[in-house]
Amino acid sequence: MPQITELKKEFTKRFGGSEDGIRVFHAPGRVNLIGEHTDYNGGAVFPAALTFGTTLLIRPRGDLQLGLASTNFPVSSTISARGLTFKEEDDWLNYPKAVVWELARRGIDLSVGYDLLYHGEIPNGAGLSSSASIEVVTAYALLRMEGKKTDPVEIAVWSQHAENEFVGVKCGIMDQFAVANGKKDHAIHLNCDTLEYELVPFRSGDYRLVIGNTNKRRGLVDSKYNERRSQCEQAVRELRAAFPELKLLGQLTLAEFEANKSLIGDETVRRRARHVVEEIDRVKQSIDVLKRGDLAAFGSLMNASHDSLRDLYEVTGPELDAMVDAARAVPGVLGSRMTGAGFGGCTISLVHGQSVDRFIEEVGRKYETATGLKPDFYVCDIGDGVREWEGEA
Ligand code: GLA
Repeated sequence: MPQITELKKEFTKRFGGSEDGIRVFHAPGRVNLIGEHTDYNGGAVFPAALTFGTTLLIRPRGDLQLGLASTNFPVSSTISARGLTFKEEDDWLNYPKAVVWELARRGIDLSVGYDLLYHGEIPNGAGLSSSASIEVVTAYALLRMEGKKTDPVEIAVWSQHAENEFVGVKCGIMDQFAVANGKKDHAIHLNCDTLEYELVPFRSGDYRLVIGNTNKRRGLVDSKYNERRSQCEQAVRELRAAFPELKLLGQLTLAEFEANKSLIGDETVRRRARHVVEEIDRVKQSIDVLKRGDLAAFGSLMNASHDSLRDLYEVTGPELDAMVDAARAVPGVLGSRMTGAGFGGCTISLVHGQSVDRFIEEVGRKYETATGLKPDFYVCDIGDGVREWEGEA
């Protein structure tokens, strides 16, 4: 929980004036429980919001400037709220800028300027959606400050568009959606084609979700991510020989894929497509088994998801694989998989409450021996989506 009193002091230190008129907003990070690399294929995902994320303190200014600062990054700036463009050297500032640009595109020009101080608790580059969290908290806070309506689904779509078009990262909708729509103790079963969703109570009984951060920087993640996307698009083009209307792999059933997979000429592309179609099916099975309270079956699906991301989609890498292997060897672990884009970042494991300490010790030790990197672990609770932080001084 961020220390709002201290953050308010920090705010006035950076921007001057008094604490009057400062409002506080919060958006969480997210973890995906299953359904990886399915969102941009119009498939299903099953993420949940975390109890930690990005806190934003905001206050109107007398001019049309934006004062942007963070307790996490040295780069800060005061810039015009109009005519924003992406600049490499602006680093993290590009995310709030992207949102202001997006709002303007949608006919919402800010009526005044604002000072904004961000405080992030999500490790950067760990695949827990620190950037989506910045985008969504910015969009939500600015809309509230401007007295506009806030629709969390719309905020997610706008934030994703801002990231795709302004920042230039071709991510799917999952991260922004989870950050905007999360609910305490629930995971979100989201159809990424229609944006229909269901909040599913996540009852883990005696088990806990444990996130393991490999602390491996996700180098090359954007180019490899885009390569996977275009391989999926290629598979769709080839499958159109049988399904002329096909737009996204997620529209195919497993049986339709099996019957027509030979239309995909390239063996690698065929494996990518197989992962997507089977992973979407695993999400469906996960919802069924979790509704029955069968955590062991869900754990097996988590394992199958990781193995497919490793062997068919090839987005894991030695660090994630080492951590997952070590996790599965600990008694009391029902399942373990990578979460997020891959190539580094985090794993998620379903661990018996009594085994958590042993898990952290053993996985930490084995992982460090295998990779030379020190991991971090977070025993994870599921929190709420974006909101104003009210009544907490
Ligand atoms: C990243 C992207 C998401 C999604 C995942 C993989 O987190 O931002 O849109 O594609 O990778 O499931």
